[in-house]
Amino acid sequence: MKQDPDTGRASSLATGLRLWPLKRYSEMHRRSLEDPEDFWSGEARKLDWYKTWDRVLDWHMPYARWFVGGRLNACYQCVDRHAKMWRRSKVAIYWEGERGETRVLSYSTLFREVNRFASALRQLGVTKGDRIALYLPMIPELPIAMLACARIGAVHTVIFSGFSAQAICDRVADTQAKIIVTADGGYRRGKIIPLKEITDEAAVRCPSVQNIIVARRTGEPVPMKEDRDIWLPSLLEGAGKFIDCEAVESTHPLYVLYTSGTTGKPKGVVHSTGGYLVFNHSAYQWVFDIREESVYWCTADVGWVTGHSSIVYAPLSHAAAIVLYEGAPDYPTVDRWWDIIAKYGVRIFYTSPTAVRMFVRHGEEGPLKHDLSSLELLGSVGEPINPEAWQWYYKYIGGERCPIVDTWWQTETGGIMISPTPGIEPVPLKPGSATFPLPGVDAAVVDASGQETRPGETGYLIIRRPWPGMLLDIYGDPQRYKETYWTRFPGSYYTGDFAMKDEDGYLWLLGRADEVLKVAGHRIGTAELEDAAVAHPAVSEAAVVGKADEVKGEGIVLFVTLKEDVKPSATLRKELVRHMRQAIGPVATPDEVYFVDSLPKTRSGKIMRRVLKALAVGQSVGDLTTLENEASVDEVRRAYEGLKKRVSAAEGD
Ligand code: PRX
Repeated sequence: MKQDPDTGRASSLATGLRLWPLKRYSEMHRRSLEDPEDFWSGEARKLDWYKTWDRVLDWHMPYARWFVGGRLNACYQCVDRHAKMWRRSKVAIYWEGERGETRVLSYSTLFREVNRFASALRQLGVTKGDRIALYLPMIPELPIAMLACARIGAVHTVIFSGFSAQAICDRVADTQAKIIVTADGGYRRGKIIPLKEITDEAAVRCPSVQNIIVARRTGEPVPMKEDRDIWLPSLLEGAGKFIDCEAVESTHPLYVLYTSGTTGKPKGVVHSTGGYLVFNHSAYQWVFDIREESVYWCTADVGWVTGHSSIVYAPLSHAAAIVLYEGAPDYPTVDRWWDIIAKYGVRIFYTSPTAVRMFVRHGEEGPLKHDLSSLELLGSVGEPINPEAWQWYYKYIGGERCPIVDTWWQTETGGIMISPTPGIEPVPLKPGSATFPLPGVDAAVVDASGQETRPGETGYLIIRRPWPGMLLDIYGDPQRYKETYWTRFPGSYYTGDFAMKDEDGYLWLLGRADEVLKVAGHRIGTAELEDAAVAHPAVSEAAVVGKADEVKGEGIVLFVTLKEDVKPSATLRKELVRHMRQAIGPVATPDEVYFVDSLPKTRSGKIMRRVLKALAVGQSVGDLTTLENEASVDEVRRAYEGLKKRVSAAEGD
């Protein structure tokens, strides 16, 4: 970590902005935008290529292709190049099971495991470009399977192990994956999640699936279908010890990862190999100052983009040691995480504001019981971090010694876009601000007409030029790709986020500007939730709005109208909650369910969400600042008052 020459500290809070201006960062950022091709080719040279690129960038709006003509392999970057040298005996993965078991994998063990897994996939007929679905708990087999796919040029699609059979089905059907890799179960708060049974339920509706590979975790018996299901250990027994890395094109897809948007159908975000790896490799050096001696722990699930970039590809490309923890943060006791930090000597710790807020509730006794002095740098991701949570994190976890990097990014951006960059130079921090765009990232805050806003004004966050981690496309839906990201502000990438730039040029990320919620940092579209709700036989119409939640950031409020003859009741409310969890997963659990006899709508039939939102958050309609375009103030007020009465009438039932 670079030191502040005045204080000797790793970084400092922005008291008086003593370190201003940031010389090294500003110079690097300026250079990266002046000559992006020169800048990024310099960064790309830090990786090993089988063949260097012919052109740094082909940019045909809205498609960017980086390092065109270059060939490389993601598994080689993350495993082989370390296993070939002294780093072979270095720790790659410290795995900690929820029940306290541990596994430590060196880079040479990882090399061996990945090779066997990749050979096994090849024996099953998997070739370059095939899609493989991974529905696994947080066990070493998950990164091993990802790297094994990358090794042979197969495209992985990881499905978060908290998702339901329906979610697996949607993703497998969309990608036409021919193999699903799962486990006999996973542990969560001491309970077994029956992953194999859930996979079976999905697979009967997914004709593309030829095989299900089952890793051993719980040892419990699970149903196995002959000719389709294979135990991973027996598959590996017969597999070869080594298989060559496929030298794929830089633009070859590394993975597809589904995320929520504004329609009911999640979108498959496609990431490249070369651009994605170059961007992440550089970003983790700038943001986390990550090095081979780093013990690095990102608490996200590998099922989200944070897990892809921050657990697997970026830290392993730097030969760091990662911590992979299987279970719940507060299980069996609320100090489990702090115990893990002390046990492995974690140097860099990266988590979500929701987790921090949960720990704030439990109090500081937990962290104070443990020696957290190994920590040097803290990170936050996924949602805005409120200053109170920031201060607590800084004081009780970082011992007022560690800078906090508040990192803003998205599934689509592939890697961190806006964040302090202590790996370049210490950045004076302002609690709640993600500070500045990374080198190569041309971020701006604009009003509805695309003009840059004045300091302090809220606007939309856009990125004005492509960056190497940018998604390649939406899988199978180029039209949606264009419309979602490139139509609102022509020529620029639209993030869907509100932001504000202050007088000092610091960026403040203010949440989603579209119908997407962030529940405990998980991204979920209101349309997706509404589709799931109306799939229940009792429900006629549904509307979902978000409501501020002290811990989760945002909670789900569901309004439903019921079919004729169905009466609202407490039992039905419970049943609906259960139905939502089953349809999507626990992420989709509504915090509140209201029965109404009709939803407030504009003349053209559009649901007046603002009205619902005002009701959900207990504001008066007079507080509504932005009204639906088509509705008059009067109409909205009438709808609001009417709805309020109907909700209370129904609640009385
Ligand atoms: O609204 C922003 C929020 O998370 C969204 C992206 O969600 P997802 O694709 O699931 O990726 C999350 C992890 C990379 C963004 O549009 N978001 C992410 N990081 C921050 C944030 N909001 C505020 N501050 C952040 N640091």
